[in-house]
Amino acid sequence: MRAITYHRYGPPDVLVPGELPTPSPKPTEVLVRIHATTVTAGDYRARSLDMPPGFGLIGRLVFGLFGPRRKVLGTEFAGIVEAAGVNVSRFKPGDRVFAYPGAAFGGYAEYAVIDEASAIAHVPTNLDLNQAAALSFGGATALNFLRDKAAIKPGDSVLVIGASGGVGSAAVQLAKAFGAHVTGVSSTPHLEMVKTLGADRVIDYTREDYAVAQNTYDIILDTSGTATYAKYGTALKPGGRLLLVSADLWQLLASLFACKSGGRKVIGGYAPERGEDLRFLAELARAGKYLPHIGRRFAFDRIAEAHAYFHDPAKRGNIVVTLDPA
Ligand SMILES: NC(=O)c1ccc[n+]([C@@H]2O[C@H](COP(=O)([O-])OP(=O)(O)OC[C@H]3O[C@@H](n4cnc5c(N)ncnc54)[C@H](OP(=O)(O)O)[C@@H]3O)[C@@H](O)[C@H]2O)c1
Repeated sequence: MRAITYHRYGPPDVLVPGELPTPSPKPTEVLVRIHATTVTAGDYRARSLDMPPGFGLIGRLVFGLFGPRRKVLGTEFAGIVEAAGVNVSRFKPGDRVFAYPGAAFGGYAEYAVIDEASAIAHVPTNLDLNQAAALSFGGATALNFLRDKAAIKPGDSVLVIGASGGVGSAAVQLAKAFGAHVTGVSSTPHLEMVKTLGADRVIDYTREDYAVAQNTYDIILDTSGTATYAKYGTALKPGGRLLLVSADLWQLLASLFACKSGGRKVIGGYAPERGEDLRFLAELARAGKYLPHIGRRFAFDRIAEAHAYFHDPAKRGNIVVTLDPA
């Protein structure tokens, strides 16, 4: 099968096309013929080993100490079930599925195997496979932080910093779906896009200092890696939660151990890959409440270009890579 592999950490051109044997599904696994995958922050970090300061060693332990352990990147994908193991009960050949292997990767190939009990779900009928490929990474992260870590509820006032990005664009839509009042923060060229995602209010961080707000937000979710409790604590209402989706070690430690008043909290951590979350996201998408924003699409043989584009200031939402343009 066609695959994009990499054998050392480095710039986008470490990603090279090649041929690998097509995997066979074990009894509880399905074999998926992949139609589309994405370039996520997870793929970028595993390819470049560019980790937030303080997390370099953790990056090597997760992705491979002396070189990449998994040679095929691709944290999420969508495609058609080609074959199912003898004990698989929820999926059958021909089913349209999307999957979130996360740090197990595997999406940059024509085929992947994944256990039916892990993060895989049926694609809602109103989405095509390119849209479905981008459902998981941002969606599952936003869902875990907003619902599971911060217990979002209707009427909450939520500030999303990095609202135009992969995680932020999902967070704006999910917070709206949970009945919150949402303010999205982005740079000037992305303000309109954040409005179309459903944000009630937008702030251009190049023109307005949103840290000056006082007792305003129940939840502040930061994906930009610029937030600390010292900076945003007073913008939280009493009992408010600052969610550090992205932070370096020093920011995280300073915020976790900062002296907090009024029951305000700082929450960091990792968002897991779970099938039940994918089914929840699929249901939201089916109901028209969540649609991954596709900023740009690339062909499979231009994946190195897609990786280079990840850090282009024009990048917004998700970068989708299509294996089979037909
Ligand atoms: N904890 C977890 O489990 C978990 C899971 C997934 C991702 N992450 C991390 O979350 C981070 C974001 O991932 P992503 O996929 O959403 O990345 P992304 O698509 O690159 O989005 C990041 C956003 O940050 C915004 N930004 C940059 N500088 C800013 C500033 N000074 N002030 C405000 N906003 C700024 C950018 O918006 P503009 O272009 O509008 O400036 C960009 O859209 C990554 O570091 C990733 O590693 C963590």
